[in-house]
Amino acid sequence: MSAALYLDYNATTPVDPVVLEAMLPFLTAQYANPSATYENGRLAHRAIDHAREQVAVAIDADPSEVIFTASGSEANNLLIQGLARAHRAGTGEALHLACAATEHPCVLAPMRALQGEGSGFNELPVDPDGVVVGETLKALTGHTHLVSVMLANNETGVVQPVTELAGTFRESHNGWFHSDGVQAFGKHPVSFRALNDAGVSALTISGHKIAGPKGAAALVRDRGLALQPLIYGGGQEGGLRSGTENVAAIVGFGVACERAAANLAERTEQALTSQAWLENALRQRGAVIFGEGAQRLPNTTYAAFPGIDGETLVSLLDRQHVAISSGAACGSGKAGASPVLQAMGVDLALAKGAIRISLGMMAHAPSDKHSVERFVAQLDTVLSQLQRFAAVA
Ligand SMILES: Cc1ncc(COP(=O)(O)O)c(C=O)c1O
Repeated sequence: MSAALYLDYNATTPVDPVVLEAMLPFLTAQYANPSATYENGRLAHRAIDHAREQVAVAIDADPSEVIFTASGSEANNLLIQGLARAHRAGTGEALHLACAATEHPCVLAPMRALQGEGSGFNELPVDPDGVVVGETLKALTGHTHLVSVMLANNETGVVQPVTELAGTFRESHNGWFHSDGVQAFGKHPVSFRALNDAGVSALTISGHKIAGPKGAAALVRDRGLALQPLIYGGGQEGGLRSGTENVAAIVGFGVACERAAANLAERTEQALTSQAWLENALRQRGAVIFGEGAQRLPNTTYAAFPGIDGETLVSLLDRQHVAISSGAACGSGKAGASPVLQAMGVDLALAKGAIRISLGMMAHAPSDKHSVERFVAQLDTVLSQLQRFAAVA
């Protein structure tokens, strides 16, 4: 049996040993509650402060702009629901919201939930490559208070022109612009300061996508943006996110952010070489690559072989100990096809064939050309199994 091959790094990443080492003391000897006033408590508190600075430096923000949460999903919900609550408290009115039709469910679902409670909500259409067109922002109602457009898509890897979009929104509206940077950070340059200058008021990042632990993430926000908490209690995180801090995870997240911002150009070049090799091989075998005409993350390839079901391919590869994902989604849209591909206008039958290969590009776990060659060899085995099966059937 060959060793397992993991090519699903957009789903999650293994923790970097350097990150783990930084975390361990806070799971063992230094277990004190950071709110405690004795020495060990103060040490834990200082460790959180240090992590906040590491996060801020890595994404070019001020430490006071960083709110730690337990996940990217929570950070997105805090922004959307927290802003909606603050707006309702201040004006008595419901927030009018908009987001790209290709957003992650943790942006789409809270917006739809608020729509159910009386908010206006618009989904911004995307072009066939998955890119939001600036004109659609101009067409939004003048009362739109919050727009969210992700920096890079988790399925296609398509990078959105967020700076331009935020600028367009700012010219025509007096609202807030948020961007989900969970997939972009560590694989694409991200500067909160530059985004903020362009009109972006909040950014989400998450630890487990950048070789940090699960259980730590951040909402980075302009302090002018008024939020109400979703979790009330002891008043941690400036009152915006109560609950005893997950010190070890936050410490690990800080180190992971530092490493995710380092050597980006070098890691990008390496990933681009592997991606080009992979996509060439896929095209030679008849695959269609989604979002091909847009700028994409260097680690993400979303493809389909016409006539071959994506889930079948994923499960046959799984039998060969190869881990990738399919574009299947059951939560919304037409059963079995990715809502992202549907929003891009991809033919339903082709969309059902989608598979996502996402390469590792963090310092300790890059997917080199050898991993890609191994993947293509296993893919060939599976494709010929399917051909033999089709010949018999
Ligand atoms: C684009 C994007 N946003 C948000 C999330 C949610 O992050 P988390 O897993 O930390 O909740 C994910 C996770 O897949 C994602 O890909």
